[in-house]
Amino acid sequence: ENGEEADGENTIVAGTAPGFPPFQMVEDGELIGFDIDLLEAVVDETEYELAEWEQLEFDSLIPALENENIDVIAAAMTISEERQEQIAFSDPYYSADQSILVQSGGDFQPESLDDFDGQTVGAQSGTTGETVVRDDLIEAGIVDEDDYTSFDNYVLAVEDLESGLIDAVVLDEPVAATFEAERDVEVAFVYETGEEYGFGIRQEDEDLQAALSDGVAAVEESSEYEEITSTWFGE
Ligand code: ARG
Repeated sequence: ENGEEADGENTIVAGTAPGFPPFQMVEDGELIGFDIDLLEAVVDETEYELAEWEQLEFDSLIPALENENIDVIAAAMTISEERQEQIAFSDPYYSADQSILVQSGGDFQPESLDDFDGQTVGAQSGTTGETVVRDDLIEAGIVDEDDYTSFDNYVLAVEDLESGLIDAVVLDEPVAATFEAERDVEVAFVYETGEEYGFGIRQEDEDLQAALSDGVAAVEESSEYEEITSTWFGE
């Protein structure tokens, strides 16, 4: 927009991992979603300019940030202590728990993780859903390691669930609700994890981190946050 910024100093590249509706998905070849609109609105509040969006697999986002292929992650990424050893985050912009998704009207209708005995389960590689499977199902001795499938994205996991190849999928609650509305799957129960999403940045990019956090606050204070929420969550 502003010729003075065309020197590239303040130009940033964003990375995301589509297939996570309504936060990021590709429709008719176009990258759309809550995180796309929100990051664009947030960056508009700053001195930075968003040059382009890179689409990657979720578990490639942190390496791409560290390699400087991208400068910011906008991928419904949960702020976690483990990730904070590698990267920094903006202030949080959305809260979520995990949900257990099963086939609509199927035989497996669990009410808690204890009901998973002998079942097969899927999640996306590198996600907090996968952490629930590993820590609270496999480590807990409820599900066999061999009965877990790690998927490149949640669309593939939901397709295997619909066709009965797996019994359940663990994923973020707002995304599970979207799949429930659009596909032949339903939420069995919500597993409370109290997660918060933040934009990921390199630890040394403190100016960008501060600018994005200020931008999140500004967008939340204006009517924009509500507008973007209503666009993607219909309320
Ligand atoms: N919030 C979860 C996490 O941080 C899942 C994010 C998955 N995002 C995506 N774009 N596929 O691990």
